[in-house]
Amino acid sequence: MDSTTSTETTATRAMEALPGPRPWPLVGNALQIQRERFHLQMEDWARQYGAPYTFRIRDRRFMVVTAPDSIGHVLRQRPDLFRRTERIEKVSAEVGFLGLFTASGDTWRRQRPMVLAGLDPAHIRQFFPALVDVTERLRRRWEKAARGNEVIDLQADLMRYTVDVTTGLAFGEDLNTLESGDGDTIQRHLNVVMPSLFKRLLSPVDPPAWLRRLRDRELEPHLVALRSAVQGFIAKTRAALQARPGLREKPENLIQALVAARDREGSGVSDEDVAGNVLTMLLAGEDTTANTLAWMLWHLHRHPAATAVAREEVDRVLGGAAGVQSLDQLGRLDLLEACASETMRLKPVAPFIMNQSLADTTVENVAVRKGEFVICLMRPAGLEEKTFAQPQVFDPLRWRAEGASAHAMASARRHTMPFGAGPRMCPGRYLALAEIKLVAAMLLANFEIEEVAPEGGGEPREAISIVMAPVGLRMRLRLRK
Ligand code: HEM
Repeated sequence: MDSTTSTETTATRAMEALPGPRPWPLVGNALQIQRERFHLQMEDWARQYGAPYTFRIRDRRFMVVTAPDSIGHVLRQRPDLFRRTERIEKVSAEVGFLGLFTASGDTWRRQRPMVLAGLDPAHIRQFFPALVDVTERLRRRWEKAARGNEVIDLQADLMRYTVDVTTGLAFGEDLNTLESGDGDTIQRHLNVVMPSLFKRLLSPVDPPAWLRRLRDRELEPHLVALRSAVQGFIAKTRAALQARPGLREKPENLIQALVAARDREGSGVSDEDVAGNVLTMLLAGEDTTANTLAWMLWHLHRHPAATAVAREEVDRVLGGAAGVQSLDQLGRLDLLEACASETMRLKPVAPFIMNQSLADTTVENVAVRKGEFVICLMRPAGLEEKTFAQPQVFDPLRWRAEGASAHAMASARRHTMPFGAGPRMCPGRYLALAEIKLVAAMLLANFEIEEVAPEGGGEPREAISIVMAPVGLRMRLRLRK
C-alpha cells in the first residue's frame, strides 16, 4: 500500500453520521442536484460541510472525499477493493459502450494491457508524423477562418482534431473530419448519446419500461449510426489482418490488437469487447482533450503575459516553423506543458471519479460498506492556498521546475491528479499532452488570438455530461505578422 495514503484500518465514524445536505424522504438529495452542474453542487457542499461529507440519491449513499491522500488511497485500491459503479457498467453495456473505462474485474484486467500498449509512448512516437499532419490540417482550417475574419466554433473544431487523431492512432483510419465536409457524423452522434448516457447514470429512479422504450427509440438511430461506424473500422481491420497475417502477432494499432485477441482461442475477448473499446476510445479521446484545449485557449486569451512567455518559447523551439516538426521540439515545450497543468488544475474536465466499494472497508476513518460509493472530488485540492499561492490565478510559471523545489512540484502534482491515479490511471495521457502541445504551439506560432469567449462574453458556464466542458466558446484569430 502507498506510504502516503491514509491507511487507517479502524472505522470510528459511520457514513450516515457525516455532515451533508439534509436529505428528503425517499428521493434523498436527488432534487437538489441539477444534472449539468452536478460537480459544482458537490463542490458547493464541500465548502459548506467540509470533507468528507455524505449525500444520498434515493437509497444510494455517497461519501465525498477531497483530500489528496484519501483520493490516492481509494484510487490505488482498484480493482480489488473499489470498482467503477455497477450502474455505469450496466448502462454502458445497454448502449454498447462497455469498454476499458466501464469494465471491471477480469474483463478490465484482460483489456487494460492491450489498450495501454496501443497508447504507450512508443506508439505515439511511431504515430508522430501523422499527428503533425493532422495539426497542419487544423492550421489550414484556421488560416482560412482568420483570412475571412470568420468566427470559429472552437470546441467543434477541436473535436474534429481529436477524432481524427484518435481514429488514426487507435484504428489506423484517416477520417479527416477536419477537411471533409460530411465527416462529422461520429461527433454528431456521440454528442447525442453522451448526454443521454449521463442522464441515465444520474437518474434517481429507473424509469418505467414504456418511458425507457420511448427514450431508446429516440436514441436508436444515433446508436445504429455509431455501431455501423464501429463495424466499418472492424471490417477494415479484419481485411488488413487477412492480407498481412503477421499483424496478428505484431499488431500496429489498438484495434488490430483487439481483433487479433478476439480471434485467439481462450482469450476471453468477445465481439462486444472489441466494439465497446472502439467506442470507448472515441469517447475518452475526444471530449477530454478537446475541452481541456478549449479551456486552455480561453485562459491564454485572458492572460496576455502568460501567452507572451509561452509564445517566446514556441518561437525559440520551432525556429520560425509553422508547427512542431519533431519529438525533440515537442519535449522542449515546457511552458506549454505548464499551461496544460495549470488549465487542468483550474478546469479539470474530469472533476470527479466515482467508485463503488467491493468489500467493507474504511476511508478517512469512516466505515464504507460493500456496495457504497466514494466520490473523489478532484478540484478542491488544486485550489488549496497552502500548496498553490493565489490559487484562483492562472499562473503557468508555478509549474516550472526552476520556479519550484522538486518537493513542492511533487506535492503540486499529487494535489491535482487530472488523469486520475493508480492502476486505472488514464492510458491516453501521453497522447493528450502531445495533442495539446501540438495545437497550442501551432496556434501561437501562426496566429494572434483576437477573442475566445462564449456568446455575450465573460466566463463560460461549466456544464458536465460525462466530461466538464465550457459552454459555447467561439474564437476569432488574426494571422500573425
Ligand atoms: C486531457 C485529456 C484527458 C484527461 C484529462 C483524461 C482524464 C482521465 C481520467 C481522470 C480518467 C480516470 C482515471 C482513474 O480512474 O484513475 C481517465 C481514464 C481513461 N482515459 Fe483519459 N483523459 C484524457 C485523454 C484521454 C485520451 C486521449 C484517451 C485515449 C485516446 C483516453 C482514454 C482513457 C481510458 C481508456 C480510460 C479508462 C482507463 C481504465 O479505466 O483503466 N483519455 N482519463
